[in-house]
Amino acid sequence: MKSTFRQGFIPPRLKSLTEALAVQCCLNEYVYSTSEEEDHLIALLTSKITESPEEINEYLAVVGCYKPLQLVNLDSAKISHDVLSGAESKDFVATHLTEPFKEKEIKRLMQPSEVINDIVSKSVQEMYEENPYPRYHYSDYTTSTLSKLASEVIRRESTKMRLSFNHELLSLQESPKILIAECGTGDQVIKTSRYKNAKVTAIDLSGRSIAYSIRKTEEYNMTNVSFKRLDILNAEILNETFDLKQCSGVLLHMEKPANGLSALVQQLQPGGYIKLGLYSTAARKTISRAQETIKRLEIESTAKGIRELRSKVMRGEINELIDLPRCVRDFSRCPNAVTCASMSKSIVLQQWN
Ligand SMILES: C[S@@+](CC[C@H](N)C(=O)[O-])C[C@H]1O[C@@H](n2cnc3c(N)ncnc32)[C@H](O)[C@@H]1O
Repeated sequence: MKSTFRQGFIPPRLKSLTEALAVQCCLNEYVYSTSEEEDHLIALLTSKITESPEEINEYLAVVGCYKPLQLVNLDSAKISHDVLSGAESKDFVATHLTEPFKEKEIKRLMQPSEVINDIVSKSVQEMYEENPYPRYHYSDYTTSTLSKLASEVIRRESTKMRLSFNHELLSLQESPKILIAECGTGDQVIKTSRYKNAKVTAIDLSGRSIAYSIRKTEEYNMTNVSFKRLDILNAEILNETFDLKQCSGVLLHMEKPANGLSALVQQLQPGGYIKLGLYSTAARKTISRAQETIKRLEIESTAKGIRELRSKVMRGEINELIDLPRCVRDFSRCPNAVTCASMSKSIVLQQWN
């Protein structure tokens, strides 16, 4: 950044690299901590590109390494064709400008959310409205020729023998109805492409997450999915029954996870399946330790506080958290991972039948 600032442009040999970094930083929600000098220079560069639009082309990608350009008041008509040429440039402009714009448009056209009464759901909604999670480029999409009967997919994923299924899950002639009970940004929705002939309904509290999901499912040309902004606790509004439900990373956010589970069970067809993703106390020992350390060190629960903590941990400066990057994959990629984890519950599984 310093050399860009001194020279007045990004050195040509660093342009593609800077653009690729700006994409990576946007996807990892600006996980890296910054120095005061960097903060100062980036404020100067941001005012240059907003106040004198002719400077946009010189500094755009550098600013994108430090903040999402959708939040900068840009005159995007001034972005020149030179900036737009090349694979990295296209990816950069798409990630920072075109895609967020598309998501805003999708959200604007969305049906209004069903009323959310639960206090915890409201605060969880606020968090994911601000930070849809996870951000990603590519998902695990299965083409229809490789997709399989739902019963076969469930068998392969289960460690249990002699599973029994309802007709919809067993028959190629049927279209099993699948509920993704909180779709987040749609990764799980895209993965339902492995179930042959499925008809998918996806719900989530966060309109921004759903908009991200819709954009991604459109990218993969999926036309079998309908979306609804809805609290899982009010899932009866769907007035439908499902053969398969997937719910990962949501019950742990609830005041009473059992209420969420009971809402899920209510609309399950006899012989249907629920696939749950929970946080286990045993698997999260390292996170619990990190939460205690965060409290003890009085680390601020702000983006800056979390970034500084991450940077100390990555440099090995906090001895008791030396294992954290290895145990918590997201810790090295997304600053909200530990905050999000600290707002959630772990569940002790007494029995798994
Ligand atoms: C950690 S993300 C997981 C997203 C997705 N399941 C995945 O694994 O990629 C949690 C998501 O659950 C949603 N969520 C949390 N509580 C919910 C509730 N009561 N009803 C519906 N969605 C909820 C949030 O809005 C957020 O998008």
